[in-house]
Amino acid sequence: MTDQGEGRRVDMETIVSLCKRRGFVFPSAEIYGGFANTYDYGPLGVELRRQIRASWWKAMVQERDDVVGIEAAIITNPRVYIASGHLEHFTDPLVDCRNCKARFRADDLPGATVDGAGASMKVALPPDLTCPSCGTRGSFTEARQFNLMFETNVGPLRDESSVAYLRPETAQGMFVNFENVLNSTRRKLPFGIAQNGKSFRNEITPGNFIFRMLEFEQMEMEYFCYPERGRELYEYWREERMRWYVERLGIRPERLRFREHPPEALSHYSSGTTDVEYEFPFGWGELEGIAYRTDFDLRRHSEVSGRQLSYFDEERKEHIVPHVVEPAAGVDRIMAVLLLDAYDEEQDERGETRVVLRFKPDLAPVQVAILPLSRNERLVPTAREVWTRLRPRFRTQYDDAQSIGRRYRRQDEIGTPLCVTVDFQTIEEDQAVTIRDRDSMEQVRVGLEELTDRLEERLSAL
Ligand code: GAP
Repeated sequence: MTDQGEGRRVDMETIVSLCKRRGFVFPSAEIYGGFANTYDYGPLGVELRRQIRASWWKAMVQERDDVVGIEAAIITNPRVYIASGHLEHFTDPLVDCRNCKARFRADDLPGATVDGAGASMKVALPPDLTCPSCGTRGSFTEARQFNLMFETNVGPLRDESSVAYLRPETAQGMFVNFENVLNSTRRKLPFGIAQNGKSFRNEITPGNFIFRMLEFEQMEMEYFCYPERGRELYEYWREERMRWYVERLGIRPERLRFREHPPEALSHYSSGTTDVEYEFPFGWGELEGIAYRTDFDLRRHSEVSGRQLSYFDEERKEHIVPHVVEPAAGVDRIMAVLLLDAYDEEQDERGETRVVLRFKPDLAPVQVAILPLSRNERLVPTAREVWTRLRPRFRTQYDDAQSIGRRYRRQDEIGTPLCVTVDFQTIEEDQAVTIRDRDSMEQVRVGLEELTDRLEERLSAL
C-alpha cells in the first residue's frame, strides 16, 4: 500500500476484510460455504446503500421538474426481452478448456482478437493459448454465444410456454410503461422516467468482490426527447452524472474518467456510449454507462406489441417517436468505490495506525456515536437519554464497551463523523458533552440544550 498524497490507495483484500469485520458486506450463506460471487449486506452496508440511493433519487428525480419515478416488476412478460433484443443479443462468448472443463469469457483471455459486439461478436484465440486454470496449451473449444439472462418458469408447468426471465436491466420497465406514464402525468418532451432496483445476470466471469455479481442493483433513468436534441442531451447527461460523483458523493476526481466506447463495441441498441470509470485496485472499471439509445427501444416495443408508442406533438400536430438518453449506474459498484475512496490510514502520536473512512457526513452509515465515558451507573442514564433525543434526527450508534480511545477508533473505522461523549463533568458540573471530530480529532464542549443544533451545523459544514 502506498500513500499517494491525494488519499491512500488501499487493496481490495483490506476492504473485503473491513467490510466483513464491521458489518458492511458478508459472503452470502457463509454457514453453507457461501455461494460464488453472491453477497449479503450487513447493518452498516444497508445504511450506506440507502444513502447512495437517496442521493441519486434526490438528484435525478426530487430536484428536477422533468423526471418521475416508477417501480416495475422483476419477472414480466418474456416478449419484453424479444423486443428489447436481450434474447438474441445479450450474450457473451464462452469457451471451455477441454482438459479441466474451466469456462472463460473468450474475449477476456490473453491474446484474444475481437471483432464486432453482442451476438455477432467473433473472437479468435491464439492456437497455442495456455489455459489459465490448468496450464494445458491449445485446449480451448470454439467460442459459442451464451445468453446471460436467468430463466425461470412461471406456474406449475415447466415447459417452454412457462419460461420467463429475471430482468437483466431495469430499463425495459421504463419503456413498457412509457405510455402509462405519459397518459397519467401529461408530460411534455423532454422528460425522464427513473427506477432503482435489482437486476440479474448469469455472468461467466463474475468477481472482484461486489464489482461483478449475479444479482445486483441498478439506478437507471430513461430521458425521452425530440430526436434532434438527442446528441446534445447525451453530452449534457454525461456531464451531469460526472458532477454527481464528484460533488454529491465526494469521490476524488483524479480517480474518475470517461471512456467512450468505439463504434464497433457498441451494444445493439446504442449509437453512442460513455462509461464513467473509477480507478479500482484492479484497474479502471465501469461505474455507470451513459448511452444514447436513439428510438431503438420504443420502436421495437411498438413492433412486437402492436401498440404505437409515440408522443403527440400538439404544435406540430404529428406523432413523434422520442429518442432516449440513458444514464445507468450500479449501487454495488458505487458502494465499493465509496469504501475504497474514503479509506485512509494515519499514524497517531503513539505510532499506532488509525484507520479512517472519510465518508461525506450525509453518506456515513452512522453520523453520530454516543459514548458514555464508562459503563458507570451514574453516566449511563444520561448517555441513553442523549441517545434517545438524537435518534430521530441522525443515524446513531450507542457504544459503551471498552476504553473510550478504542471506541473512537471503532467509529473512525466505520466513518462516523462525530462522537458525543458523556462524562462525570456532564452530570456533576455543566450539563454539557464533548463533540469529537473524526477528521481533525478536535474536541469541543457543548451544552446539552444546544447539542442537536450544533451537531446539525457541524455535519452540514463538513
Ligand atoms: N440499461 C443499461 C445497462 O444495464 P450496463 O452498463 O450493462 O447498462 C449499468 O449496466 C450499470 O449496472 C453498470 O455500470 C454497473 O454499475 C452495474 N452492473 C452491471 N452489471 C453488473 C454486475 N454483474 N454486477 C454489479 N453491477 C453491475
